[in-house]
Amino acid sequence: MNVGICGFGTVGSGVLSVLQRNSKIISSRAGSDIFVTHIASRSLKSEIQNKDIKISKDVFDVVDDPDINIVVELIGGYDVSLDLVMRAISNGKHVITANKALIAVHGNKIFEAAENANVIVRYEASVAGGIPIIKALREGLVSNSIEWLAGIINGTGNYILTEMRDKGRAFEDVLVDAQKLGYAEADPTFDVEGIDAAHKLVILSSLAFGIRLDFDACYTEGISSIKSQDINYADELGYQIKHLGITRNTDDGIEMRVHPTLIPKDKLIANVDGVMNAVLIKGDAVGSTLFYGAGAGAEPTASSVISDIVDVVRLCTEDKVINIPPLGKKFDSLNQLQVTHIDDIKSAYYLRIDVDDRPGVLYLITHILSEKGISIEAVLQKEIKNKSLLNSSDHVAVVLITNRTKESTFKSALAKIQELDSVVEQVTSLRVESLE
Ligand code: HSE
Repeated sequence: MNVGICGFGTVGSGVLSVLQRNSKIISSRAGSDIFVTHIASRSLKSEIQNKDIKISKDVFDVVDDPDINIVVELIGGYDVSLDLVMRAISNGKHVITANKALIAVHGNKIFEAAENANVIVRYEASVAGGIPIIKALREGLVSNSIEWLAGIINGTGNYILTEMRDKGRAFEDVLVDAQKLGYAEADPTFDVEGIDAAHKLVILSSLAFGIRLDFDACYTEGISSIKSQDINYADELGYQIKHLGITRNTDDGIEMRVHPTLIPKDKLIANVDGVMNAVLIKGDAVGSTLFYGAGAGAEPTASSVISDIVDVVRLCTEDKVINIPPLGKKFDSLNQLQVTHIDDIKSAYYLRIDVDDRPGVLYLITHILSEKGISIEAVLQKEIKNKSLLNSSDHVAVVLITNRTKESTFKSALAKIQELDSVVEQVTSLRVESLE
């Protein structure tokens, strides 16, 4: 099997070096030798010093190379990569990609074309880097009805939240570090505004529930408005704030949402720190399973790309291709489940309300919540030190955790609380999940 690699950045070099280092193990497991015979990259790297590898500047040279059986797309983005993958498929080549944006946004078109052309498309590296989460969902958990899954699937966001919590550093400051360390996307707003995590969640949701990919239906909130004080209050109440992707099969449809979330500190996933990723899956047969590992980086991502290459080699026997459907079900038999609007989901909520420190304010807040039928699970208000120094502009934070309620009901209570004269700042609200 001859492999062509399009794009030779961090991941491309990782793929080549792991394939070379572990060539004996990999070939014996694949049952066939695997040769990288063509690499295309805009800026060619001196480390490719192998006379058996053709080098091109144009990625389409790889796709049109008649000797290539498997095209590995590592250029990222949506535009060139889509043309490249579609042309590879129409040229009868199997495709492997690490491109979550491409799969989340254009996966339906790609998978349908691949099914019609009887070629294999694999994308293990697109979600959670080195964790074999796609294979786990599509194959290892195939007997389960998946109830829900929740994942920390953006390393940059997790790194930022961890540094803010442990070192009390400001958001902007930590982001600069994450960029220097090479974790962040080319456009770091993809990380901090949750778009990268949404790309990955949409893929996981389709695999978990057998539905078409629907990126536009994913509710997305980032972490850029998280303040250190909320991380500290959450901690006092027994929670960590994590940026989670959550998808759940409910009677009202499929929930698909990415947002900062308070989760109990005693959950294993709450202790996944730094750039690490983790995905917690609840299946009816298996119960809860937690997958943990590096969500980015050259060799962890290469580990997933190469597992896809080996899969393709194993699935191509002498005269036929055994095509396990990319989303685990044939395209025309995917489920027709609706994605629930965010207003219709149910969650518990954390509220930080900065108020004037005067009598009756707590009463007014709790009165609004009780009118909406929202019960309070926890309350925290700190005594102001040096009360004698108070002046009329002083205010205090009231922190509450509610019980589970419908998002639209919560939002209408929140709007009324915000209108109170004694509420002096924009109220901070975050969703709380018990992950039970
Ligand atoms: N920017 C991504 C992250 C890289 O931080 O997780 C891997 O997709």
